[in-house]
Amino acid sequence: MSNSVSRILMFPIKGDNRGSLIALEAMSELVPFEIKRCYYIFDTTPGTIRGLHAHRDLKQVLICVSGSCTIVCDNGKERSEFHLDWPDKGVLIEGLVWREMKNFSKGAVLLVLASEHYDEADYIRNNAAFIEEVTHG
Ligand code: TYD
Repeated sequence: MSNSVSRILMFPIKGDNRGSLIALEAMSELVPFEIKRCYYIFDTTPGTIRGLHAHRDLKQVLICVSGSCTIVCDNGKERSEFHLDWPDKGVLIEGLVWREMKNFSKGAVLLVLASEHYDEADYIRNNAAFIEEVTHG
């Protein structure tokens, strides 16, 4: 549990009179892993809560590139909420963290950069099992 981290990231905007651009590179301070996968969540049903799972071995950066949403992270000891409402904000999640994504605005697009390929075996989808694993290893 000690290495479970969730924190807000602020990305530098390269802005000029044409608009704004953010560039993210793998193995950098902002994305401290090789990116093996990216996926995005969009066209969400109003009021829906997604996620509701933890991973054993995955690092992710979540960015709401359009609209807004809330990311809830729980490491078994404390629960943090991050409101993503502009593309220059991200959330870094590392280690055993229960995550939920909610409050999606109309038109929200949540982009996720991930350190590993999709692997259903890495998911803990049962909260009681997560609490057990985070408490007793
Ligand atoms: P799900 O884990 O329910 O999404 P969320 O984390 O938002 O709750 O995934 C929805 C479906 O998409 C499920 O059938 C698994 C599949 N999926 C992939 O095939 N690859 C992926 O990288 C992800 C994240 C999901």
